[in-house]
Amino acid sequence: MRYHIWTEGCQMNVADSEKLEAGLAKLGWEAASGPDQADLAVVNTCVIRQKAEDRAIGYMSRLRTLKQKREGMQIAVMGCMVGPRTDDLRQRFPYVDVWARPQNFEVIIRQLMPEGDLGGEFWPDTFPEPKGPTAFVPVVHGCNKFCTYCIVPYRRGREKSRSIDDIAREVASLTARGVREVTLLGQTVEAYGKDLPSTEVDQRKPDLADLFEELSRIDSLARIRFLTSYPRDMTDRIIRSVGELPKVCEHFNIPVQAGDNETLARMRRGYTLEEYMDCVERIRKHVPSAALSTDVIVGFCGETEAQFENTMRLLAEVRFDKVHVAAYSPRPGTIAWRHMEDDVPQEEKMRRLYEVERLQERISRENNQPYLGVTQEVLVEGVEGDPDGQATFTGRNRANRLVHFQAEGAPAIGELVDVRIDRVTSWSLRGQMVSAVAA
Ligand code: SAH
Ligand code: SF4
Ligand code: F3S
Repeated sequence: MRYHIWTEGCQMNVADSEKLEAGLAKLGWEAASGPDQADLAVVNTCVIRQKAEDRAIGYMSRLRTLKQKREGMQIAVMGCMVGPRTDDLRQRFPYVDVWARPQNFEVIIRQLMPEGDLGGEFWPDTFPEPKGPTAFVPVVHGCNKFCTYCIVPYRRGREKSRSIDDIAREVASLTARGVREVTLLGQTVEAYGKDLPSTEVDQRKPDLADLFEELSRIDSLARIRFLTSYPRDMTDRIIRSVGELPKVCEHFNIPVQAGDNETLARMRRGYTLEEYMDCVERIRKHVPSAALSTDVIVGFCGETEAQFENTMRLLAEVRFDKVHVAAYSPRPGTIAWRHMEDDVPQEEKMRRLYEVERLQERISRENNQPYLGVTQEVLVEGVEGDPDGQATFTGRNRANRLVHFQAEGAPAIGELVDVRIDRVTSWSLRGQMVSAVAA
């Protein structure tokens, strides 16, 4: 039997799809090249903005047409489109055979094997098959923050941390199969451990720094990354451990969302601009080489031109290496959707969005200039053939910049190499390999 999975959304969804694949492989299922070859087509949905939801619904209606032509085909929809109640969804999409909430893989497996004994340990012990030298590893699921614009807590539930042992076993299993770099995932990843029991040794709950330390002991693991940071949970202890532990990459993805206190309050982000800046300063003090990226929403309910300008000012001041900017999209069920007016016209949202992009393109380019002539450690992630025989390799430096490079002799995927940078753009660095990094 064959399955096909279509995935939309964030790294968490990518990780979920890979875990489902591993479970299906355990049952003896094989991957199909497309949904038209599949006995089971899975749609792993994202609903963070209307556009993502529309794409999922568009894809589902294509599957519906396929299903009409293919007897026995089943459709499963999982991910953030699926809330605690599915009656409405079942009515709207009667052709879907099974609905599964994020991470609720078992429902899908059950649909395929209603009688089988999955064993209590089926899911915890099913680790994904790595696709290359890098892998995503969810460490804390869900979110407790309830920012007014955001649908995530309603769909992914409350914060729930995995144990350090469980995560370490997964990472060891990944590295045994060629993974060199893991990205630890959480909606607010510094919330890791808050819901875990205190350890007997020091009577304190484990935190992200403890997890970094434990994973650093895995020999063949070269790099540890983490996403997404939340200013209020970012302790000095965690920041210091990023600076001190050699395997933890000096890169913080720390969404600010707005550079204006009134907007932040309407978003209920739980911090002021001053507190955010304090967090940035603490990071830069303990980890001077830190790369910083952020997320911004423009055109949130009630955002005035002056408030938007405050966000622009913040971006110009902090000079992030990367900014993910999105136009506010009302999400049914959220606090903003219930109580605030979506009063910034679409054109105005787009104008603000382009303005952020324009500013950031310049800053990113300028931030990349100092790399010219400098040698960077790159983890080789891929290779692209080239018509005249000269292959181009791709990877990332520790600061998460995309690096394209040429090499005499072929470095292996998963190898750490030194690349001398000779060209930069806003989006990437280019260079020539000078040597493999000594292990
Ligand atoms: N947990 C992370 C982000 C999760 S969602 C955090 O706290 O920042 C990823 C990004 O999508 C957010 O950072 C935000 O910029 C954007 N986003 C979330 N809800 C949105 C909405 N309703 N409209 C537009 N962008 C949104
Ligand atoms: Fe959404 Fe806020 Fe939680 Fe991030 S912290 S997932 S934006 S509710
Ligand atoms: Fe989308 Fe859910 Fe991630 S809404 S961004 S897939 S947490």
